[in-house]
Amino acid sequence: MEDFSQKIINEEKVVVRKEQDIEAPLVNALENSLQNPSLQFHIPGHTKGAGLLERFKNVLKNAPLIDNTDEFNNFGTLHPATGPVKRAQELMAEALGARESYFLLNGSSIGNFAIAMSCLKPDDKVIIGRNCHRSVITGLIMTGAKPIWLNPQKHEEWSIWGEISYHQIENAIKQNPETKMVWITSPTYEGVISDIKRISDVCKKYDVLLAVDEAHGALWNFSDKMPTSALHLGADVVVHSMHKTGGSFSQSSILSLSQNSKIRSDVMENNLRLLHTTSPSVMLLASLDAARAYLQSEEGQKNIEKSIKIADYIKSELRQYPKVLVLTEEDGFRLEPSRVYIMIKNLFGRRLENILRTDYKIEIEASTDNGILVLTNIGNKIEEAKILVDAIKEIAARDFSDIPYGEDYKFMPLLNPIIKMSPKEAFYRGFEVVETSKAVGRISLDLIAECPPGIFVLAPGELVTEEHLPYLKNYKTIKVLKES
Ligand SMILES: Cc1ncc(COP(=O)(O)O)c(C=O)c1O
Repeated sequence: MEDFSQKIINEEKVVVRKEQDIEAPLVNALENSLQNPSLQFHIPGHTKGAGLLERFKNVLKNAPLIDNTDEFNNFGTLHPATGPVKRAQELMAEALGARESYFLLNGSSIGNFAIAMSCLKPDDKVIIGRNCHRSVITGLIMTGAKPIWLNPQKHEEWSIWGEISYHQIENAIKQNPETKMVWITSPTYEGVISDIKRISDVCKKYDVLLAVDEAHGALWNFSDKMPTSALHLGADVVVHSMHKTGGSFSQSSILSLSQNSKIRSDVMENNLRLLHTTSPSVMLLASLDAARAYLQSEEGQKNIEKSIKIADYIKSELRQYPKVLVLTEEDGFRLEPSRVYIMIKNLFGRRLENILRTDYKIEIEASTDNGILVLTNIGNKIEEAKILVDAIKEIAARDFSDIPYGEDYKFMPLLNPIIKMSPKEAFYRGFEVVETSKAVGRISLDLIAECPPGIFVLAPGELVTEEHLPYLKNYKTIKVLKES
């Protein structure tokens, strides 16, 4: 029985303090960010509200009043989809040309979990691009499916990972005829697009499901100036991180089944229900609805085109500078058009990112040792792009000599992983933490991926070898399975 006398005594000890004397570090950080605005070339795509539906902005002025879950005020429910939530999902599916679209909270990550649960069973074989997001591995841990890894193309001159070819897929299926699904990421973080049509033709030929992680292509179904979405190229299921470039709020995403998808809608719906919170935020769900409405509006349409024009402007301006390298389709890639990958010769990408942040108050999406990734969002303006271009020109005019030091780190290894067991089996074995230098010969429980460039060095169940060590320099310790 609870000791109430004790409780009363404890309550007497509670020190009541004034609000300003109580620590709230995250609230402080938010306050600071409002006072120190920066120029934003990164997610979320609405870019501090510049690319947001006006009606939704007005509603948001009453944020505390509208914070609610789906069980009150006739908002409708997420699971099962009812009322306004259901209608909003239907409108999203219509906009995307999908048979079904499901609103996701917890990002595209939960979409990847649901894909795994809906399409894979224990021991099923699934062909996966090694540059997949870590949520795909979580899906493997959840289901017990076994990965057959495919390395994407390696583009040494840019230090990036690229497309997966349909030849690779066909070869892998031929070697593993019982494969259940092919699961690839396109576009990549840096924007490289794989030939999904040909890949889907191969999948159809061998009756294999195709899942495409199109997290970074959320705008594609909203403009014919954008590449064609995998939803219309034969994929069965596609995820879109609407919160990344589509203008919805962080964490809100979409999973869609294509018109001819072989995946059952009721199975997907059921699995999403198992995975989702039972208290979905109506504000986040509504942000998906608002983003869809905005992207379909005149202003939204104009801003999608503008985001491409801004990217083109940055590329064409910077290409004139011999010390600056900018990835373009002229280099032989098919690229997502609203992101720009830039390198300055002899300057670390991470250092360039720091200089942009500290000296110019410009925040970019990401950096590697070699380059930086700039997103040109639906909320960005051409004047902002000019500031970025001028800053990069100014920085490039200085002398740097970073690269010799960075050469070692240039690439994650293209090692063929030595798989000792499935990620799920490894997950349940129990682990210990060891010094990385002593991990050789042990089986990793860790999922180690530098993001970006986001290709796995080690996944759970894989043997750690000497060859891994140069790529684990940033890790003092790693988790390995207990020796039995
Ligand atoms: C390719 C890819 N897929 C899925 C995800 C997960 O998306 P989210 O952050 O929306 O959960 C990411 C996140 O960066 C990603 O890059």
